[in-house]
Amino acid sequence: NPEEIATRPSHAGRRVLVTGAGRGIGRAIAQRFAARGATVGVADMNEADINETVRSIRGNRKGAAVPLVLDVSDYPSVEKTLAQAASQIGGPFDTVVNNAGISPKHDGVAHKIWEMEPDEWNRVVAVNLSGCFNTIRALSPSMRDMKAGWIVNMSSVAGKTYSPIVACHYAATKSALIGFTKHLAAELGPFGVRVNAIAPGRIETPMVRAVAGEVNDEQVRMTPMGRLGAPEEVADLALYLTSPEASFVTGQTIDVAGGLYM
Ligand code: NAI
Repeated sequence: NPEEIATRPSHAGRRVLVTGAGRGIGRAIAQRFAARGATVGVADMNEADINETVRSIRGNRKGAAVPLVLDVSDYPSVEKTLAQAASQIGGPFDTVVNNAGISPKHDGVAHKIWEMEPDEWNRVVAVNLSGCFNTIRALSPSMRDMKAGWIVNMSSVAGKTYSPIVACHYAATKSALIGFTKHLAAELGPFGVRVNAIAPGRIETPMVRAVAGEVNDEQVRMTPMGRLGAPEEVADLALYLTSPEASFVTGQTIDVAGGLYM
């Protein structure tokens, strides 16, 4: 029964950090992990959205949620916030889903490199790529010492294949996460830590709803499954990758894209 599968306590006792968990895919991931029994650190920059995610989890009484206001691009604040969270929840996070990401001026007409301000390039790299470095840099020593850990980085099909609807900074960071994931899988594998990435196709979230309708219609036409994905469908892959069922899966980037750009 699907309800039993969705709430099986596969992640009971786990401490899971989800970044960008205020809305969209990150919120669905936080809810799914909590439903599976984890204590979830709901990290985002937007405090009102964090509180809404935390409320949705606590209201449903299965798992626990702690709000963490942080900017993933700011290493000192990431380190400090995660250390404080560890004392609050009884130990360091053993699982991190690096989901926070931005795609500025994502209006369907991706702007060209000659239209891109250097500051905008730097911000996208700082959030989408360095943001993943920052959380893993802070958490990897305890994962290594515990000889257990689960890391998931949110890439994109636009990091594997050219997509006309994103700009070069976004594609560059999402591609970089694929190599970063492989390298970390090699470094951390001997310590029992698995590192994987997810490459979503077109998923219906606030980021995607912000673009013109005809852009999404065209993406749906290119998707063999003939629809946008749901945030929960991405969350289920994150659950799998961090579960005992995936105990020999590491260094991989797996699409959840309905066949888009396969
Ligand atoms: P979204 O824009 O709806 O949500 C992203 C969340 O991240 C927001 O709550 C935002 O406040 C937070 N965030 C942004 N910068 C942050 C920072 N510096 N520190 C902490 N939190 C920050 O985005 P969506 O659609 O849910 O995407 C989530 C991830 O999935 C992103 O990494 C995105 O690139 C990726 N993705 C999304 C796809 C889609 O079709 N929606 C497709 C492929 C990848």
